[in-house]
Amino acid sequence: MEIVHRPVMVKKVVKILTPKPDGIYVDATIGLGGHSEEILNLIGPEGKLIGIDRDNEALKAVHKRLPNKRVVFKKGNFSEMEKLLYQDGISEVDGIFFDLGVSMAQLKDPERGFSFTSGRRLDMRMDRNQEVSAWDIVNRYPEKELERILREFGEERLSRKISQIIVRTRRKKPIDTCSELSGIIERLYSRRRTHPATKTFQALRIEVNKELDALRTGLDSSLRLLKKGGKLCVISYHSLEDRIVKNFIALSSRKGLLRMLTKKPITPELEELRSNPSSRSAKLRAAERI
Ligand SMILES: C[S@@+](CC[C@H](N)C(=O)[O-])C[C@H]1O[C@@H](n2cnc3c(N)ncnc32)[C@H](O)[C@@H]1O
Repeated sequence: MEIVHRPVMVKKVVKILTPKPDGIYVDATIGLGGHSEEILNLIGPEGKLIGIDRDNEALKAVHKRLPNKRVVFKKGNFSEMEKLLYQDGISEVDGIFFDLGVSMAQLKDPERGFSFTSGRRLDMRMDRNQEVSAWDIVNRYPEKELERILREFGEERLSRKISQIIVRTRRKKPIDTCSELSGIIERLYSRRRTHPATKTFQALRIEVNKELDALRTGLDSSLRLLKKGGKLCVISYHSLEDRIVKNFIALSSRKGLLRMLTKKPITPELEELRSNPSSRSAKLRAAERI
């Protein structure tokens, strides 16, 4: 299936980064390269873009989509951004962009085991070389640990009940597929506006990919990599991520390391929300290195 890709708030991102023709920019989550494409339109032959992703399939696809000599593709976690850049002799950059979370390509591919309706094995690994998947967490983690993850990473009100029922069910037989798990959770809720398994799936995804730890480390690295005047720009999609970004920028501003460029987060315009409903939870925050 071909995924129609719509990069979120792309014009706003580019306006903040204001790419210089000879600048070096990092797209820490290149995905299918929607934002990178716009950055590349503005940098010249002396400019460079380093595109990082921990997902090999995304990298293969973006390589095909943006066969451009000014892009250096890097497979890896942005928590190791400094190491990845040093490999190419880069220790200073003009802008770093993060578009957090998973891509539509990952979400919509049933094989990747991210979506409630997938009849495939619970997986959710962005990096498929990684050992631990959502299956391991659901079927092997102790009940208390499951409960903690659902509470902390999903802000799930029924974390206790859900972890109890998971453990009770898996005693009889492992919970193998995404749809089996979402079916179990659905039975606990009578009515809900969003899918009842939304928070559980969010929590599992964060735990599988250690997303919040990676974000904290990635943001710290940005401080060391950005040149004076360099821009940091982050799009997040849920409150846990946004809180980390917001606190990081506020703290670094108090320390005199960053200048906050967005007092309030920037959100998509109505037009974008209409044409791309999945952008509805996006929040963009930005800062300048001083
Ligand atoms: C929302 S998508 C990015 C979409 C991209 N901006 C575009 O226009 O196509 C997020 C991407 O970041 C990658 N990703 C998420 N966390 C990562 C991390 N810690 N390190 C590297 N890549 C990561 C995912 O694999 C996914 O491809």
